[in-house]
Amino acid sequence: MSNQHLYLNLYENLKQQIIEGQYQSGDKFPSKRVLSQHLSLSNTTVEHAYQLLLDEGYIYSKPRSGYFVSDIETLPIINRNSTHTPYSHSQEPISKEQNIPENTHCELAFNLSEIDAEYFPMQQFRKYARDAFEDDQLLLLQRVNAKGEWQLRQEIAHYLFNSRGVTCHPEQIIIGSSTEQLINLVTDILKEPQFFIENPSYPPIKKILDKKQIKYSQIPVEKTGIALDKFGEFNHNIAYVTPSHQFPTGYVMNLKKRTQLIQWAQQSEDRYIIEDDYDSEFRYFGKPIPALQSLDTKDKVIYISTFSKSLYPSCRMAYLVLPKNLSSRYDNLSNKDGNTVPTHLQKMVANFMESGSFERHLNKMRKVYKEKLKFIIEKLSPYEDQLEVNGALAGMHFTLTVKNGLSLEACLDRAKKNKLKIIPFSQYDQQLTEVKFILGFGGIPFSTLKNHTNALIKTLTL
Ligand SMILES: Cc1ncc(COP(=O)(O)O)c(C=O)c1O
Repeated sequence: MSNQHLYLNLYENLKQQIIEGQYQSGDKFPSKRVLSQHLSLSNTTVEHAYQLLLDEGYIYSKPRSGYFVSDIETLPIINRNSTHTPYSHSQEPISKEQNIPENTHCELAFNLSEIDAEYFPMQQFRKYARDAFEDDQLLLLQRVNAKGEWQLRQEIAHYLFNSRGVTCHPEQIIIGSSTEQLINLVTDILKEPQFFIENPSYPPIKKILDKKQIKYSQIPVEKTGIALDKFGEFNHNIAYVTPSHQFPTGYVMNLKKRTQLIQWAQQSEDRYIIEDDYDSEFRYFGKPIPALQSLDTKDKVIYISTFSKSLYPSCRMAYLVLPKNLSSRYDNLSNKDGNTVPTHLQKMVANFMESGSFERHLNKMRKVYKEKLKFIIEKLSPYEDQLEVNGALAGMHFTLTVKNGLSLEACLDRAKKNKLKIIPFSQYDQQLTEVKFILGFGGIPFSTLKNHTNALIKTLTL
């Protein structure tokens, strides 16, 4: 067996022992030296396996004390019940890609929709790109099924079950180029839809509904999720929600509301919920909250998610899980659009998922983003009487409300002087009376995080 397989096997073995509870949170992990002697493995093999466990957050190290087992309840572990071998391809350990350009923006920007590209496993992705072309040269040139590549849909079904509790058959999955495109497709399948949407909400939703002249009502979002008690005032049949991390407020819908929302949908045959689960891979505190789809037993949830956060935004790949009856309705459409995502990209991502690399990448990125968020929040905490943080349990953005009397204009003026770019929340909520900002942190490199945070504090505090 090659050394590469040895360390991957060891990693997989140790990970399984942690997942199965043979080690408890806080337990001391064997030292690398002891383990390599005990298993007659080289130090390098053990070193590589431990590095993967560290990267993904299964273990942590304490200076001069050794390795300890993390609290894995907060990790949405996938492949728990995996039936296929996750390592059908040989891989290298995830390494920081060299030659990444420094932050080329002259501003200290808290942009939305950016990932930390520095940690993207480019070497592996390159390998999957090569594999995709080598393995299926002729198939790759064919048009795929309108729903997308079967292998990718299988991998997504497997991943969704293990990470989000979503149960579906690959036949119910459709791959598209964006969340917007898939929501658009959903509106073609639904009969006489009239929407409840969140207020404030993800801007493309309003755009689609306006363009298609579909009636909708905007329902306020509370800290516990969309205000369901307002539903009774209208006779609409579709609810579009972002329950795991509401966009833009960042609020998480509580379990009571999730259940009530499903009950609402179950009361009538033509009612459906569209669950946009766009950044659910990144939940940092508390137990992972299952998807609405996983709580529903009557096929009432249309589930949508994207690879824009979990892989990279320019990948332009999102996926839709239709309830069985809507899936048949889609199959019977006579004027279906062809699939818009290139076959080789679908193959690459499918191979990336099948090999276990996607899981490792997510575990690693969850750690990276959590560290960034913790850093910012801790730096802001002495100013809690001036700045209120919300929506910081998950995802790659949170909100900041300025409570010290500074006006929006004054904040923006000061931001300009400090070369800081921050997005006013009023861009999403025109009726807003507070001074509030929405801050994306995913794309800020660790090297400038301190400068970003200091500029933020300097700008927004007195
Ligand atoms: C609510 C919501 N849905 C979906 C997405 C991603 O969409 P796409 O798949 O088109 O990149 C985002 C991006 O920020 C979002 O905020």
